[in-house]
Amino acid sequence: MNPELPLTPPVIRPRRLRTTPALRRMVAETSVEPRQLVLPLFVREGLREPQPISSMPGVVQHTRDSLLKAVTEAAEAGIGGVMLFGVPETKDAVGSGAVDPGGILNLAIFDVVAEVGDALTVMADLCLDEFTDHGHCGVLTPDGRVDNDRTLAVYADMALAQAHAGVDMVGPSGMMDGQVRVIREALDGGGHTDVSILAYSAKYASAFFGPFREAVDSSLEGDRRTYQQDPANALEGVREALLDVAEGADLVMVKPALAYLDVLRRVRDAVDVPVAAYNISGEYAMVEAAAAHGWIDRESAILETLTSIRRAGADVILTYWATEAARLLG
Ligand code: PBG
Repeated sequence: MNPELPLTPPVIRPRRLRTTPALRRMVAETSVEPRQLVLPLFVREGLREPQPISSMPGVVQHTRDSLLKAVTEAAEAGIGGVMLFGVPETKDAVGSGAVDPGGILNLAIFDVVAEVGDALTVMADLCLDEFTDHGHCGVLTPDGRVDNDRTLAVYADMALAQAHAGVDMVGPSGMMDGQVRVIREALDGGGHTDVSILAYSAKYASAFFGPFREAVDSSLEGDRRTYQQDPANALEGVREALLDVAEGADLVMVKPALAYLDVLRRVRDAVDVPVAAYNISGEYAMVEAAAAHGWIDRESAILETLTSIRRAGADVILTYWATEAARLLG
């Protein structure tokens, strides 16, 4: 060592790796790929024209025809799958439309599978809230509480109806205890061993679901705090995910995404199945509203949002921007 040299260390320059677009691209730790994106779609019974959802600019309730156009575009864009939600014309206390083979969601599954075949993973929401007149995710006890175990029996029937319609993957989103186990047993008992389960495992009672309630014409009064999780709890989110894996979930999900990125990371580190995150309606609406005001750059905000969800640990992202983002990602 030369004793004449000063001992102060040189400036460490992380900026060097940010010098050019090619270099930044080369060292990027996280990427978003079209195959990782899933597009949620709403189809409404009895509709003649697609119906805009005012709180979700750019998203519509589809007719059975316009739904097919949307899934064709999604397949052409190369995304991973679609998640279907049905909005029935009539609702009742037990959500009969959900288990009816002629119910709107089951018809839509059949149509979509016939249209796109294996080009997309066709998923369906498995929950009663769109189909019940009280808007809860399950059936009620005489005194108005959500009846966990009676709801499970309906979920089992709903899973079979969706499987008969040709669904690839069911997405139980009602947060009933034991729902994954009961659905897995029902599917296997019906010979549908290849139908997979994307469990909405850590699902929080969130204000950010607001626009979705318009999207599905929800009749809910009150809230879902006796079954969806308290936003204060992260460990409990991990516990729910581990339980769902033990019950047979093929993938687990954290939902919403943005306000729960820490939960997403913890779940990713705790399980050995793919983890999905749902970039939900309110998260979409916030970006769209700010962009419409010219307050943020829309496309950059979309890509940054999706990147942040991937960085936090999501292998799969459900997002209303799926088709558009796939095109942006080229
Ligand atoms: C329940 C369900 C909801 C969402 C997906 N599945 C609503 C809820 O739990 O109240 C919300 C999706 C979104 O806000 O984008 N069927």
